[in-house]
Amino acid sequence: MRKTLTSLLALCLAGTIMADEGMWLPSLISQRIDDMHEKGFHLSAEDIYSINQASLKDAVMLFGGGCTGEVVSSKGLVFTNHHCGYSQIQRHSSVEHDYLKDGFWAMSMEEELPNPGLTVSFLEYMDDVTDRVLSGYSEGMSETQRDSVVAANSKKLIEDATAPGKGLKAEVDALYYGNQYFIFVFREFRDVRLVGAPPSSIGKFGGDTDNWMWPRHTGDFSIFRIYADADNNPADYSSDNIPYTPKRYFKVSAKGVHEGDFTFVYGFPGSTREYVTSDQVRFIGEVSDPNGIRLRTKRLDIQKKYMSGDQAVRIMYSSKNASVSNAWKKWQGEVKGIKRMNTVSRKQEYEAEFTRWAAGTRYEGVIDSLHRYYSELEPYQTAAGYYRESVLTTELLRYSTGIVKALSKDDADTSAILASNYKDYCLPIDRECFVEMVSEFGKNVPAEFLPEHFRSEYAAHGHDAAAWADDLYTTSAFSSESAVKAAIAEGKNLKEDAAYKLMDALTTFYNTGIYPHLNRINGHITLLYRDYMRGQMEFSPEKTFYPDANLTLRVAYGHVSGYHPADGVYYKHQSTIEGIMQKDNPEIFDYNIPQGLRDLYATKDYGRWADENGTVPVCFAATNHTTGGNSGSPVINADGELIGLNFDRVWEGTMSDIVYDPQVCRNICLDVRYLLFIIDKLARDTRLLDEMDIVR
Ligand code: ARG
Ligand code: GLU
Repeated sequence: MRKTLTSLLALCLAGTIMADEGMWLPSLISQRIDDMHEKGFHLSAEDIYSINQASLKDAVMLFGGGCTGEVVSSKGLVFTNHHCGYSQIQRHSSVEHDYLKDGFWAMSMEEELPNPGLTVSFLEYMDDVTDRVLSGYSEGMSETQRDSVVAANSKKLIEDATAPGKGLKAEVDALYYGNQYFIFVFREFRDVRLVGAPPSSIGKFGGDTDNWMWPRHTGDFSIFRIYADADNNPADYSSDNIPYTPKRYFKVSAKGVHEGDFTFVYGFPGSTREYVTSDQVRFIGEVSDPNGIRLRTKRLDIQKKYMSGDQAVRIMYSSKNASVSNAWKKWQGEVKGIKRMNTVSRKQEYEAEFTRWAAGTRYEGVIDSLHRYYSELEPYQTAAGYYRESVLTTELLRYSTGIVKALSKDDADTSAILASNYKDYCLPIDRECFVEMVSEFGKNVPAEFLPEHFRSEYAAHGHDAAAWADDLYTTSAFSSESAVKAAIAEGKNLKEDAAYKLMDALTTFYNTGIYPHLNRINGHITLLYRDYMRGQMEFSPEKTFYPDANLTLRVAYGHVSGYHPADGVYYKHQSTIEGIMQKDNPEIFDYNIPQGLRDLYATKDYGRWADENGTVPVCFAATNHTTGGNSGSPVINADGELIGLNFDRVWEGTMSDIVYDPQVCRNICLDVRYLLFIIDKLARDTRLLDEMDIVR
């Protein structure tokens, strides 16, 4: 069984690909290298991934658990996105030193700032461990039995791979819905210091207005350095630590990019669902995305109303607002993209053909069964989505159980817990959101998905969410930091608080009454997908089947390219400083650039960083297939040199997590020449330029 699958996978991987779609496993890149060479790549598969010699993978890291970063000097210097380093920059900021607003530049190693808790991980090696993970499993076992076999074998594999004291971490991940398993062994570094960041007006230029959009002009980068102990091994922060000597670092190319140039993105894409059936795509495009968009629109409108009238509120809610807005905007592009691509009906046709082909094979009935389980799942998925996007977003409710839980720990520091919860809290915003979210939840979610406590309290307030809010937000001890303090001082039982009781009822009901059903049905669905995935590979041997993203290291290759977003419109592949100046407006927060940048533009003081047209390139678009988690990923040219940092996708192409359209799916990259220009001319931090290997 195993053999057939391996040869099947090899066959599928070798198949012709139509476009630059795909996120490939680095250790299997030899299966794609011919195609990469045909498209312009100059290096070998061993240059990308090798366990025998230093390769490009040794210069790529998982940054902070959800982003990607890359090493760019022999002294462990790291580039990632501004939005990936944001919380570190924020952490070191104060009223006197507002690094978010003004930027931060360490002018010597002594000035580089430690960030306890921040880690970066390099992949040591990855290995196909399918046989060992499934050892002891037999076809007749239930999914639960299979899960425990997989868990026990994985645990053993991880223990064997991570000898203590070496800073090694490992994980075993399923690919192709558990048709294949890989172990990934990482070396994790724990002393990672902040070296530099541009002002937010550069690093976040365009803010949420330009987010997910092209043409783009954001200088989305920040700079860190990895420190190690005297033996170059991972260590906790210590002033004795020294800069890490990497096995490999990227040369930085100032040669520039042209339309059609080969590019590849090396990083950690988080999650895609390329092989789900038409039922699930319909659900995403017609139910879950639209519901999420509607609920988030209400919250964003309320936030905006308060933020625009009050500078302090704007600062408090800017980070929260950005994260609510990010998925909200992406989903809108995704819904449109799914519709435009006719993905539901195209998948339905494909499924009908598959079903005809599957008659009499072991795959007979797979599509039907998936369809039945999806019908059973939909009410649960819908209710869980409402729960997550409505009542669960209410800060008062979240704080109540969060604080009680945190305070119950033995070494709980009450003031610190309360301060961190209420640091950025604006009660009027939260209260209005509560009214909207409770109304939506109460109105749209069927009674069987509402806990009894919610229903009786809602009824007791005359099914009037505003009346309920009036009551809750004036009587609950969780409505402010001082009220909680007072309640604690008076010895009140916080678990009797109305907000706590409501949140506790909601979470208990969903955790014990809804999620178990949801998980049970999903268990069946996963099992069926394991078959369906194999079936598709047999059914369409000419098609390429890269594994869905799951935050494991991948190679996505393609080329620098503009695109047609609409009839009669062509977007070029490159943006420049001219566009920044066109958008510059001191009156608009998202477009108010630092005076220093205006001055550089006025005097055309571009130094070495101007392009052949005498202007400074800022961002470029390419066809690499990327997703969330690829932020900060190195964008590499045909010679393996760094030409940019990936940070976003274009709005028309955000459905690429579900279906990739070569016509419009583009990733957005910061042109590394803009980064160098900012370091050189605005920050005047030449020591950083001196330690990089810049090629022209
Ligand atoms: N859309 C990009 C990514 O998902 C950037 C997000 C941060 N920027 C922002 N303006 N919210 O995640
Ligand atoms: N900004 C995203 C990130 O944080 C990358 C954009 C995308 O989803 O492709 O990973």
